Amino acid sequence: KNNTMRLFFTSLATLLLLWCNAQQITPFPNRYQPQPGQLAVPAKLTISAAEKELAALIPVFARSAKDFYGITVKEKSKNGFVRIVRTKQISGAEAYKLTIGKNGVVIEGGSDQGCFYGLQSLLQLLNEAQPGGTLNCAVIEDQPRFGWRGVMLDESRHFFGKEQVKQILDLMALQKLNKFHWHLTDVPGWRIEIKQYPRLTTTGGIGNHTDPAAPARFYTQEEIAEIVEYARQRFIEVIPEIDMPGHATAAVKAYPEFNGGGSERYPDFTFNPGKEGTYSFLTNILREVTRLFPSDYIHIGGDEVHFGNEHWSALPEVQQLMNTQKLKNLVEVEHYFLHRMADSIQTIGKKVVGWDEVVTAGLPNSNTLVMWWRHDQKPLLNKAITQNYEVVLCPRIPLYFDFVQNKTHTHGRKWQGSYAPIEAVYDFPDNYFAGEISVTDPLVKGIQANVWSETIHTPERMQFMLYPRLSALAEAAWTESHAKNRERFFEQMNSMLKLYQQKGINFFDYRNPDSPETFGPEK
Ligand code: ACM
Repeated sequence: KNNTMRLFFTSLATLLLLWCNAQQITPFPNRYQPQPGQLAVPAKLTISAAEKELAALIPVFARSAKDFYGITVKEKSKNGFVRIVRTKQISGAEAYKLTIGKNGVVIEGGSDQGCFYGLQSLLQLLNEAQPGGTLNCAVIEDQPRFGWRGVMLDESRHFFGKEQVKQILDLMALQKLNKFHWHLTDVPGWRIEIKQYPRLTTTGGIGNHTDPAAPARFYTQEEIAEIVEYARQRFIEVIPEIDMPGHATAAVKAYPEFNGGGSERYPDFTFNPGKEGTYSFLTNILREVTRLFPSDYIHIGGDEVHFGNEHWSALPEVQQLMNTQKLKNLVEVEHYFLHRMADSIQTIGKKVVGWDEVVTAGLPNSNTLVMWWRHDQKPLLNKAITQNYEVVLCPRIPLYFDFVQNKTHTHGRKWQGSYAPIEAVYDFPDNYFAGEISVTDPLVKGIQANVWSETIHTPERMQFMLYPRLSALAEAAWTESHAKNRERFFEQMNSMLKLYQQKGINFFDYRNPDSPETFGPEK
């Protein structure tokens, strides 16, 4: 009996140990099979790629290994300790298989991207093992739950700059997030250089949400290209957003001839939909934007036009447009505008992304991706899906990261007392819709967190709001619901939080919720 007991407890301990290994990977893999035995990690870590194109993955991997965990990796022409192989046997576009065998590590993927994700899992395992340590033998077969795993950053309200963006891209890639939606234009500032219209940045770039006179901050086209390339090497697609016809204040400050006016609360909020010149101005801008971003998509916003389009009815050219196009009211004018711009984007050869207002506008479903953000309007999401739109879920609660994450936090948004704690991010979208909407519908492309920055003044504050909720988002987007487990996730987080700490990131430590909310030096 004693022997049986001993056997039972040693087996249990071994199992726990093996389990611990996978617990270092965020997002948690969908299939993890422990194997008997261990693999010694050599002090001099080497890596080789079976094909030339795959070799491009190695410098990026070596850099992350060094930057994140201080591990040195050397490339070898063949028979490295880690071998990367592309194989047709793995079919998912982003799938990989990671085998830790007695003689080394093999990463197989059906695509370069799959291989890249295998490397990210390995990286997190190596962090605990370190060269000179051991890895538990295992086979991981993994692929994402959702194809769209996104983060949006608003740099109009406050500008954070290139180094902050690259750090976000680094941590997104490590956690297998693959879409960076860049909100580059809005009321306080225009942040992307457009050569044909230089005043967009020299004038439109001046100011931010806190200080309307702050010196112009924006990205040159060279810097944009650098960031897009940095993202590409990490399998992150960058989707630019040029918000229209509302949220246009910075642009019409620079080019008043296209000003459609606003309301008392939101003056100079819109582009003028009654002037032909507005459409060519915006189309010329989008043509330049297209040359900078290889993504299939351009985001044209389309949100909250009613906040500030009252003045349209006072414009003779809008009256004339309503007569010639037989538009009955300002909502129809708004929809006319959106259809015109969607046509332009189709001509340019791109697809449209818009906030969920574009469903009501009736943009063509074959060329439009909808971002559902109004969490209090579930029927609208239902309508989008019923009408065959592809959708990305980014409801304010819990995926707007300018919402506070703890009830004691005061500086940030709440919605009728609700906010966005890390647990709610982690649980999304499971049980969120209570059967009203099926998130396994192929039209549901994925999920995205949006970092709006009206209340985020500094890089430190941005980090505080983004981390570690970013990790919960990553697991919610990657890991199938049956493989999700909150308790295990919080165990995993200890490893990730150690990394955030080492990188000097000002994350919110939910383990110590009474720790003060931090803002950075400028607050
Ligand atoms: C939005 O929050 N206005 C999309």
